[in-house]
Amino acid sequence: MDTKKHSKMAWLWENMKGYRVIYAIGILGTIVYNVMQLTVPYFTQQIVDLFLTGEDAATNIVTKRDLFFQLVIAMVGFTFLRTLIVYLVCMDVEHVSQKVLYRVRTHLFDKIERQDMQFYNTYRTGDLMTRVTGDLDAVRHMIAWVIRSIVESFSLLVATAAYFIYMDWRLALAILAIAPFIMIVIVLFRNQVAPRHKELREKLSLLNTAAQENISGNRVVKAFAREEYEINKFDKCSIEFSKTNKKTALTWITFFPYIETFANLMPIVLLVVGGLFIINGQLTMGEYVAFSGLIWAVQNPMRMLGNIMNEFQRFSAASDKVMEIYYSEPKIVDKEDAVDMPNRFAGKVEFKNVSFQYEDGNLPVLHNISFVANPGETVAIMGETGCGKTSMIQLIPRFYEPTEGEVLVDGVNVCDMKLGQLRKNIGLATQDVLLYSDTIDGNIAYGDSSLTKEEVEKFAKYSAAAKFITRMPEGYDTIVGERGVGLSGGQKQRISLARALAVKPAILILDDTTSAVDMETEKQIQHSLKELDFPCTKLIIAQRISTTKFADKILIIQDGRITESGTHDELVAKKGYYYNLVQLQTGETMEGGEA
Ligand code: GTP
Ligand code: MG
Repeated sequence: MDTKKHSKMAWLWENMKGYRVIYAIGILGTIVYNVMQLTVPYFTQQIVDLFLTGEDAATNIVTKRDLFFQLVIAMVGFTFLRTLIVYLVCMDVEHVSQKVLYRVRTHLFDKIERQDMQFYNTYRTGDLMTRVTGDLDAVRHMIAWVIRSIVESFSLLVATAAYFIYMDWRLALAILAIAPFIMIVIVLFRNQVAPRHKELREKLSLLNTAAQENISGNRVVKAFAREEYEINKFDKCSIEFSKTNKKTALTWITFFPYIETFANLMPIVLLVVGGLFIINGQLTMGEYVAFSGLIWAVQNPMRMLGNIMNEFQRFSAASDKVMEIYYSEPKIVDKEDAVDMPNRFAGKVEFKNVSFQYEDGNLPVLHNISFVANPGETVAIMGETGCGKTSMIQLIPRFYEPTEGEVLVDGVNVCDMKLGQLRKNIGLATQDVLLYSDTIDGNIAYGDSSLTKEEVEKFAKYSAAAKFITRMPEGYDTIVGERGVGLSGGQKQRISLARALAVKPAILILDDTTSAVDMETEKQIQHSLKELDFPCTKLIIAQRISTTKFADKILIIQDGRITESGTHDELVAKKGYYYNLVQLQTGETMEGGEA
């Protein structure tokens, strides 16, 4: 994720493709309407010199009456025209900025969607949200306002300076001699304000993260009655943000008086030097009026530059964040020579000496794992919490890649397959169930939206969910809240199972999917898993012997290693970990029976 090699402005230009010409027209328009500012003082100067203060003023007003009216009409006409151009330019740049915003936002979302698991381990949701909202808006603001303001200030400044020089170069130089001092102040200001904007951006991200985590995790907050604590924590983030905001604003306040002082020196220079020139007859009254009527056109751009610099630094900090995602590439992607597999896999899964370590972890979590699950077989995976079961099954859909060894599906290394093809053949019910805010029907048919109502109901039956769904107020059309709020843990698990089954996968992976359902319901589920109307290899992570008992093969994982493997009977006979587990889980009832 190297953003260094891409310059921000080049990146912006790249994203303006298709709108560059109309943007350039807008910028040209900006120059035109700023140069047009000079027409008013030009006409004023003419009127003053010809009809007010000139030697022949009294006769001119009689003999050149038409010229007088022409000048007045031209002055008014130009003012209207200028207003029209300003309006069109604003519409134009706003239009382009919205188009670019849309384009970059779509691209960013696309990038985020296609990222691998490691990316989501690294970035916080609140931070990513900040990037696609606030940061992107700073980028839009750059196109719609900052660039236009820079052009506006410079064109006005340059045009006025040129006009001043044309009227009287000595007076012009005397006034403009102040400009470099203002420039120095602005450069000093930039150096101070740039880090402030970076800090401000970080604080905003922290604030958003705190808000997002608290809203989505509010049930936990309530359960522990930690509202006060969380409110205080959020308050701290909020105060930090507000303080940094204030500091940023104060930076400007420290520099502003210097700029203001220098800018205000300009009319004084005009008064003193200009006054002397008039006395000496080197300057006409009309010229003096033109100078004094335009002095703002030199002062204002100077004052504006501070503000522009501020906004530019905001853009700079924000675009760093946006570009980081914009140019990020997932590490897990299709290889160029990826194998083209048949649409439906047979479903053989094989691990060959697989070891694995998370990129952000410091110890391997899987060591030398080898096993085979033949098409149609059921393989149960057991082991104490944290032993590596979830990590292991995540290697099959290639959420992560093994550090050593190979994971093969139908004899082909998953790293050589097309991700889309591989994942379409896998039905996965994850340990942490996440449902979308959608109808139950929509959630079950998530992997295949062409599913008919009857099919959805069939899969709900398979996962023993049909009964409770029909009892809900609107049955399959009941909308479940964000993350499945409104359903019990076991209900959520069963919908998640139905969703995994609904893609009719060649390989079904269940990660502790029946942990929250009662024994009776679990029995029903097991029964239907045996009777599925499509061929399917099943890898089932479970804690209960009742779930694993009938598997073709049981794998016991301890500390990332397979320590036992075989059928229920074989493992019981071995009198190892599994045997102890059987004792533990059935022993109590046996003792109960004896008593
Ligand atoms: P249970 O689901 O609790 O039964 O455990 P499990 O067997 O599924 O364990 P899992 O595979 O989730 O974790 C195995 C080890 O990997 C644990 O020590 C975790 O702390 C570690 N681990 C899991 N996910 C990550 C991750 O994203 N990054 C890092 N660095 N470590 C992880
Ligand atoms: Mg797990």
